[in-house]
This record gives sequence, structure tokens and C-alpha cells, in this order.
Amino acid sequence: MNTLSLHPDEAKTTISRHIYGHFSEHLGRCIYGGFWSADDTLREDVIEALKEIQIPNLRWPGGCFADEYHWRDGIGPRESRPTMINTHWGGVTENNHFGTHEFLELCERLGTEPYICGNVGSGTVQELAEWVEYVNFDGISPRADERRANGRETPWGVKYWGVGNESWGCGGNMRPEYYADQYRRYATYCRNYGSNRLYKIACGANVDDYRWTETLLKNVPHHMMQGLSLHYYTTNWNEKGPATGFGEAAWFDTLQRTFKMGELLERHGALMDHYDPQRKIGLIVDEWGTWFDVEPGTNPGFLYQQNTLRDALVAGIHLHLFHSHAERVHMANLAQTVNVLQAVLLTDGATLIKTPTWHVFEMYKSHQDAKNIPLHLACGEYTLDGKTLPALHASASKAADGSVLVTICNLHASEAQPLTVTLGGTFASVTGRTLTADAFDTHNTAENPDAVAPQPFEGAVLSGEALTLTVPARSVTALTLR
Ligand code: AHR
Repeated sequence: MNTLSLHPDEAKTTISRHIYGHFSEHLGRCIYGGFWSADDTLREDVIEALKEIQIPNLRWPGGCFADEYHWRDGIGPRESRPTMINTHWGGVTENNHFGTHEFLELCERLGTEPYICGNVGSGTVQELAEWVEYVNFDGISPRADERRANGRETPWGVKYWGVGNESWGCGGNMRPEYYADQYRRYATYCRNYGSNRLYKIACGANVDDYRWTETLLKNVPHHMMQGLSLHYYTTNWNEKGPATGFGEAAWFDTLQRTFKMGELLERHGALMDHYDPQRKIGLIVDEWGTWFDVEPGTNPGFLYQQNTLRDALVAGIHLHLFHSHAERVHMANLAQTVNVLQAVLLTDGATLIKTPTWHVFEMYKSHQDAKNIPLHLACGEYTLDGKTLPALHASASKAADGSVLVTICNLHASEAQPLTVTLGGTFASVTGRTLTADAFDTHNTAENPDAVAPQPFEGAVLSGEALTLTVPARSVTALTLR
């Protein structure tokens, strides 16, 4: 019998809503065709769908694109903005019609915090400093005046600023010692204006490059760096495999790779605890998610992939891992919001599809800003070809109104899991929903948009301080106790 014990009395750490953040790059059809329509307006359907999952922040303009993006090209009348080549992503011509004003208007419409990533790889200190001034300064200055002339009187007060992206790779191929010095220069001139205190995020490690993390922690004064990032994609770089049409071996392999995130949070977190024992610096996982082969017939540089039940499990487990490290993980950003990698939304012309990953974010949204409940899960194994994974993975949180959300992933491809939950308190009611499908690779399409959508789950029985249920095979289940 699988057992899950919750300890609500020990729930102290808040799960920052920023763990539920997203990332949108000028890549493929994320911006153009995703957020921005062909007639140069924001897509209202995309805005509505993202509001439903309460996205707390949005990172932009990249990614690799950020380090060759020059923000001045994206302001002023659209028809006179210069074009550029998007060398990283398909070599297409970028018309700069979606720039600073459009992005910040989008964030206002979404009710989400913008997170702007500055150009360190090919931009200057002055260019980044002036971007901050343009966006945030309320007084009389050349940049603030220019912003007003472009139609925006009040500053936006953007708090989150990334100082370069993947500076160890596409952002300049720097050594950590060199980047640490560059960070100090660039961050120095990103000024606080008015009451707005910037939250500056240094480029952190690629996966398990612990030397990068340690070098940054040793060489950047801690008051200059509010966050340090980490990037990890759930993929096999040698053979990514298709996003659909896969078998159990690929299902298992992807889920196994998902757990690497837990190890990374532990080990980068341990280094941060050593150098920053008071945990002032946030670990910002600003790129995570699956990376499969592009859909056949699509531009390889556009990273367009379908999204299946497997992606839902990957999302559910990641979010649980972030919750259990919430004392250090202050933000995380799924790559990427629309039409790219593990997207929550897919568009095809005027059609909009909510992916299984969107549903997980919707089912989990009450975890945002709730208190993480420490738990102990004793469960059986899921074994395939001599390799094992835990069959279940779970998380629980307590919201301000006293309700408790328990989310459970059953990784097992074919076996439902009986589970007894000891709640550590009594509740009057339980309601539930579960997300599952007959096949591993079930996904939503224009013809069948709800092939993977949560269904009511009525199999949870409350008795005193215990809850019993059978968790369906290959599922994500959310239970709310009141
Ligand atoms: O998300 C796609 C790319 O992956 C980003 O541009 C880059 O930062 C990472 O390598």
C-alpha cells in the first residue's frame, strides 16, 4: 500500500507564485503568430487563456535572442523600425513590430510581472542602462522623454531584469570568471529609479556546471545579485525523439530525466547555502521543460512540438520539485509559452489549443503563494527494463483560506496506485479532478481539443484524518480539501 503523510503544522515556506512563470522568445511562432497577430495586435484568445492560469510573470525577449536584441530597434512607429536577422532561430527576418511597448502592454493586459532579459553578449553597458531608464524613470531625462514621445507617459516600473542569457554559450561563450566581472559592470549601471528596487538576475549554470555557480557566488558581491539562474531541459540531446508516436521506453526515459531537476536543485542549492546561508539570493530556473524533435514538415529552427500526456507528467513533477525547494527557488519559467518547446498553448491560424501542460498549470494554480506542506511519500516502484522510478510523486500546500491542495502524479504507464493519505487534520469535504488518457501520447488538436482535459475525480474518500483513493495510471490528479 502506498502512503502519503502530510504535516500541515510544519508548513512554513511560501511557494512563490513566480514558480509558475513563463518564457517567451522571438523564436518561431511564439511572438509572431502566438502573442502577436498578423494585423499587428495582441491575440485576445491567447491573453484570455493565459489569464485563466494566472501567469505571474513573463520572461522576454530571449533566450539566445536576447543577446543580439537591440531594444531601440523595437520602439517608435512600427513602419519605421529596422529589421534584423534572427540568426539563432531559423535565420528569419525580424521586423521588430513587437518591442518594448508591445511586450509591456501585453504584461499589463495579462496582469503579470514582466521579466526583461538584457543584452550582454553583443550589447553595451550603456544600452542596457538606457533601457532601464527608458522603462522605469519617471522624471525628465532623454530616455524618459523619448518614452513619452512614443506614447507612454508613466514608467512601467519593471522589477525583474536578467543580465545576459546563457553567457556560457549563445550569450557570448564566456568563462565564469569573465562573466562575473561583466555582470558587475552591467549590473552596476542598471539603476533603481523612484521606489522601484530592481531584482537583478545573473546568468547561472548550464545544467550541472557547479563550477559556474560557485564562481559567480565567489566573485559577485551578493548585494548586486538578487537571483542566479539555472537552465535544464528534459531531453536526450543525442536523440530527442518525437513529441508524439512514442512508446513506453520513451515515456519512462523522459520521466527519468525529469528527476534530474531534483538533483540540480539539491546540488546548486547546497552551494548557494554555503555561500549565502541566509538564502537571500533566489535560484531562478528561468528555462525548463521538454525538448523533442520538431513536428515533421516544420522549420527546424522554430522548435514547434506537440504536447502530450507525457508533458503533463513532466510539468507536474517539476512543479512539485520546485515546491519542495521553495525556500531557494524564487522563480521558474517554462519554455516557452506559445508554439515553442513545452508550450501551454498552440495556435494554428485563428485556432487556439490548450495543451495538457496548460491543464496542469490550471489544476495547480492554488499552489501559487500557498504554504508548502512537508510530506513523506512511501510508494512502490515503476520498473522498466531493469530501471526504476517511484510510481508516485506528490506535493501539498495550504492556502490562506485554510484549504489544502494535494497534487499527485502517477508515473506508471499501466497500473493504478491505491493510496492512503494521512492529512494531519480534519476536513469537511474533498473534491478532485484527474488528467489522464488512454495512450501516452494523447494530445489536443483542432479536431479534438479536449482529448486530454481534466475530468471530475470522485474516488477519494474522507474518513477522519485519512483520505483513501486509487490514483489512475499515467495521470495527474488534484484534490482540494476544505
Ligand atoms: O528556449 C530555447 C533556447 O534554449 C533559448 O533561447 C536558450 O536560452 C536555450 O538554450
